[in-house]
Amino acid sequence: MNIRPARVGDVPAIYELIRKFADRKVMIRRSMGELYESIREFLVALDEDGRVVGCVALHVFWEDLAELKCLAVAEEAQGTGIGRRLVDACWEQATELEINSVFALTYAVGFFERCGYDQMDKADLPHKIWNECVRCPLFPNCKEVALIRSHVPISRPAEPAGASARGLALAPA
Ligand SMILES: CC(C)(COP(=O)(O)OP(=O)(O)OC[C@H]1O[C@@H](n2cnc3c(N)ncnc32)[C@H](O)[C@@H]1OP(=O)(O)O)[C@@H](O)C(=O)NCCC(=O)NCCS
Repeated sequence: MNIRPARVGDVPAIYELIRKFADRKVMIRRSMGELYESIREFLVALDEDGRVVGCVALHVFWEDLAELKCLAVAEEAQGTGIGRRLVDACWEQATELEINSVFALTYAVGFFERCGYDQMDKADLPHKIWNECVRCPLFPNCKEVALIRSHVPISRPAEPAGASARGLALAPA
């Protein structure tokens, strides 16, 4: 199994992978157009025949915060460590970019906890993230859980509510 940055030729396979889980309402559907536009955010996992069996994207929000999104592993390839390798690869990318914290919104809580993520209060995430959520068919009754992995301790902002651009304060270690 090989993990590499996605190429435009991978877009149809990524689209299909996500579509299957979006049909079951465990992921947000992505159009082909969106995938082409954000292809540089994606990593793909390939099996020995070069078939795309997993994907993930890392979206940078701010100087110290990125979102791990669009994580999917083909059903027949699940349970073999591909998901964890994709999540770890994203963490490495974030670290190389000098981003301290990566969060995910997901139903796969146990999986992310196995990958070193801790649950957090969704309300502490920047308001910007809801721009995408409003497109989800489950909004506003979504039960997705926020999880975060960080190089620094997470704390609430010291300044008055609304004063922080991000709504999330990451205190230096
Ligand atoms: C969640 C998902 C990415 C996991 O991928 P995977 O390749 O099957 O996971 P891995 O084999 O790498 O599992 C890593 C660990 O997590 C555990 N795990 C996997 N799925 C889990 C789940 N749903 N709940 C709890 N633990 C889980 C595994 O048992 C393994 O544990 P270990 O540390 O004892 O080895 C995959 O099931 C998937 O694509 N689901 C549908 C789409 C989805 O929900 N994506 C997340 C949206 S952000």
